[in-house]
Amino acid sequence: MTQTEPQAPGFDHEENVANLQTAGKHTAKTAGKLVSGKIMEPDGKEWSPSSWKLYSAAQQPEWPSLDALESATTRLSSMPALVMPADVHRLQDELARVSTGNAFLLQAGDCSESFDEFSAKAIRDKLKVILQMAVALTYAAGLPVIKVGRIAGQFAKPRSSPTERVNGTDLPAFRGHMVNCELPDLLSRTPDPERLISAYNQSSATLTLLNAFSSGGFADLSHVHSWNLEFVASSKQGKRYNKIANEIDQALRFISACGIEMDSVESLHRVNFYTSHEALILHYEESLTRSDPFSGSWYDSSAHMLWVGERTRQLNGAHVEYLSGITNPIGMKIGHTVTPDELVALCDKLDPQRTPGRLTLITRIGHARIEDVLPPLLETIKKEGLPVVWACDPMHANTITAESGRKTRRFDDILQEIKGFFAAHREVGTWPGGMHIELTGDDVTECLGGLDDLAEDQLHLRYTTTCDPRLNARQSIELAFQVAEMLRA
Ligand code: PEP
Ligand code: CO
Repeated sequence: MTQTEPQAPGFDHEENVANLQTAGKHTAKTAGKLVSGKIMEPDGKEWSPSSWKLYSAAQQPEWPSLDALESATTRLSSMPALVMPADVHRLQDELARVSTGNAFLLQAGDCSESFDEFSAKAIRDKLKVILQMAVALTYAAGLPVIKVGRIAGQFAKPRSSPTERVNGTDLPAFRGHMVNCELPDLLSRTPDPERLISAYNQSSATLTLLNAFSSGGFADLSHVHSWNLEFVASSKQGKRYNKIANEIDQALRFISACGIEMDSVESLHRVNFYTSHEALILHYEESLTRSDPFSGSWYDSSAHMLWVGERTRQLNGAHVEYLSGITNPIGMKIGHTVTPDELVALCDKLDPQRTPGRLTLITRIGHARIEDVLPPLLETIKKEGLPVVWACDPMHANTITAESGRKTRRFDDILQEIKGFFAAHREVGTWPGGMHIELTGDDVTECLGGLDDLAEDQLHLRYTTTCDPRLNARQSIELAFQVAEMLRA
């Protein structure tokens, strides 16, 4: 009798195809039906990690050498998985709780991670802000807050034009450090597939640190709470958040007064922190697609959660095709132009089994429109009985250009869109499940307003984003306290 070799996740996916087809025990919760061990699409086409190539793929770089691309993707295909199936499934279960109104999602991080600003300090400070926000939200909602970073893989950007005119010359647009460099010269802007490997390596190092921080003393609830007390005490305006901060303080004292040894309760010292990014560069995502040796399902090992952007969510496009076949929880950005019918068709393609927590609809509609545009969409999804998570991205439809020409966002517009999101859900009777924020732990000057009342003439001081303007640490924590007040109301 021959013994089956134990399988480790992280195989070459070609090899996985062979394993899957012979094993014939596919249990993936995917769009297609399992026919003789293969996933069949409703139209008879077979899903595979590379089936997206049969569809039109928007926003892909023009790689100058297909040989160099193949060399990079071949190496990526044999690299170890960045995330493990068990963690992906745990996130899916936690998002299922959000879909039923029993948890809240906080998804946050950089617009576009940078190869140049990569340091342990930057990662730590970003995590710190997200943890601080989560504590305020957890207390106010009285519910678990699921923490998902836009981190460890958020290196690619969709662009409104494939080229940019600089000093009279058309250069390829900057598409994120996974593809090219933002410097305005032809060499820097030429897509380089070796950057796919660098993105993988930086994601791997980032994950190592995130895992250490989220399971070590750094994520300790009492530390995080003390940072929030410092935030409240640090300015006269911050005092308006004293009430919630003091209540959390009292709750913690109450727990210890009851004789519960804070030091011995594991959940007060560690957090589950997940990673996510936009699944934009499909050669990268395909190369990191693995089969789970236990369930036989396909998953994208580049992050726990992947999302499809507003510019690439075409029903018959390559991105939707790719995401329809992986078992990771997925997000979809939706802007004001989506119609209820289009939305239902997209949900059917991405989540035909209607699995709670599988699909997060991330609305990015704009503060002026949200109260008109969102309710009919909520009504439709409610009537269809689709178990989605609703999350609000109050960033991407509130970008303006300052007189200096810099892209910026007003803190008040961001807050206003979240208020509109809560109001729309209240009107329809659905759960405002979470928010999706672009932020950094650094003291940047990219968005206007907030407690420190950042003004247009201060934007140039520390404007370091390679793409969209992010909330700085203080603006992010203030936003969380404001949303905490909404959740209590
Ligand atoms: C983003 O999240 O960085 C982004 C580009 O968003 P959207 O697809 O909503 O424009
Ligand atoms: Co952005």
